[in-house]
Amino acid sequence: MFEEIKGILLLKRFFKAIKGDKYFHPFPFNLKTIVKILKSKEDIYRFTFFNNEIVGMWMLRGWEEGYKIPSFGMIVHPDFRSRGVGSNMLKMAIKACEKLKCKKIRLTVDKGNPAKRLYLREGFKFKGNVGIKTL
Ligand SMILES: CC(C)(COP(=O)(O)OP(=O)(O)OC[C@H]1O[C@@H](n2cnc3c(N)ncnc32)[C@H](O)[C@@H]1OP(=O)(O)O)[C@@H](O)C(=O)NCCC(=O)NCCS
Repeated sequence: MFEEIKGILLLKRFFKAIKGDKYFHPFPFNLKTIVKILKSKEDIYRFTFFNNEIVGMWMLRGWEEGYKIPSFGMIVHPDFRSRGVGSNMLKMAIKACEKLKCKKIRLTVDKGNPAKRLYLREGFKFKGNVGIKTL
């Protein structure tokens, strides 16, 4: 119970910091989403912490909806960008997929998002705004 409340408060603060991000809009930043994240069984949500606060989040989603290929997404707190957090989280997600013996990872990148460079560096191949990495 205590851990659950702590999780809700941490995510609430993180959502406040990232809400309105031009390139990250996978779900509404509300309590319903926070509860879904904390209760998720198959889909993976992971966090990077600094001083007991969430500064980054990555996710592999889609399994719970029946998709075979998970969709990757990530966001770093605006004050913590360009320090390698994002690259590190992407590497962790790829490792997690390898462990789970996934064959592919999917993601979408909005036009003009500099994050595309990061994904290209990690071997994603793009068709339009959809990137696929084959493992
Ligand atoms: C994309 C993102 C997660 C990268 O995290 P990060 O911790 O800043 O990344 P790193 O420090 O590991 O690497 C920086 C790389 O991220 C990319 N990048 C994307 N947006 C960036 C931003 N606003 N500031 C800095 N780098 C950014 C660049 O490709 C940069 O690589 P470069 O060396 O080619 O310039 C982060 O910028 C972010 O949260 N952006 C907004 C949300 C988003 O776009 N998510 C991805 C949706 S597909």
